[in-house]
Amino acid sequence: MGLSLRTWVASILLLTHLVHGALSWGVGGHYAVCKIAQSYFEKNTLVAVKKLLPAYANGELAAVCSWPDEIKRRPEWNWTYALHYADTPNYECNYEYSRDCRNGKCVTGAIFNYVSHLVFQFHYNLTEALLFVSHFMGDVHQPLHEGFKGDQGGNNVKLNWYNQETNLHRVCDDKIIESALKKYYNSSLSVMIHSLLNKLEYGWSNDVPSWESCPGHQTVCPNRYASESIDLACKYAYKDATTGTTLGDYYFLSRLYIVEKRIAQGGIRLAATLNRIFSSNSEARCSMKLRLSCNGGIKVM
Ligand code: ADE
Ligand code: ZN
Ligand code: ZN
Repeated sequence: MGLSLRTWVASILLLTHLVHGALSWGVGGHYAVCKIAQSYFEKNTLVAVKKLLPAYANGELAAVCSWPDEIKRRPEWNWTYALHYADTPNYECNYEYSRDCRNGKCVTGAIFNYVSHLVFQFHYNLTEALLFVSHFMGDVHQPLHEGFKGDQGGNNVKLNWYNQETNLHRVCDDKIIESALKKYYNSSLSVMIHSLLNKLEYGWSNDVPSWESCPGHQTVCPNRYASESIDLACKYAYKDATTGTTLGDYYFLSRLYIVEKRIAQGGIRLAATLNRIFSSNSEARCSMKLRLSCNGGIKVM
């Protein structure tokens, strides 16, 4: 197989950590989005994705979905840092691409860009393009990745989560998920993912078709996901969560449903996008390419 022992050991340790260990949204939320997505892949999509995945992923997209977060602070990847979010001017509860995504350098611009690389198979590292699309699809669904510029999407709102000092962004990235794992899911991310798959099948099944589709049959519609996020950020994430407050049971119990729904939506939309890109129906693929260019839906950075 050509895999060194070190790589094997590293991947087994990583997977064990992901599934059972102390989890952060960075890892846990992205893992869940990609795991849900993979369970909705059509046959051709699964084959195409597996071909693009690095060997150490062991055929699991979820195993590498946090890679863009791992590299974003390295000097050579620093240009990717701003691609993880699209903040709005302070107290502005709607999102506008031209205002909030200057030169396409934000999460929605990055999704358009890397989807177009996958569709047109531009000369670019398509493995990287797949990992970026998969990761940014998770980020764009986290409401505070479309937060306010002034507080860096809640990163500068310092507060307490129960008796722990943290900030609002981290509460929405990982604290709510961590608390939910302990309280409802036997501290197991797999149990939580199974529960979300169950909710998708029996609870949200009537909503899934509208989550999947994009206006004008575009391949992907990140502006819609970002508009939903800033709306949720204003209505729920920022609400009753100012600097110096202590968030506890009330905040946790009223926001958990939103976090879970956004993870599920991210997974469904990642799968739908990749299914459209890797569709076996070449006619559909071709007309999709035309639509992409005709609609001007794709912005290349
Ligand atoms: N840095 C600045 N704004 C941010 C956001 N919304 N999410 C993550 N990091 C950020
Ligand atoms: Zn990110
Ligand atoms: Zn974040």
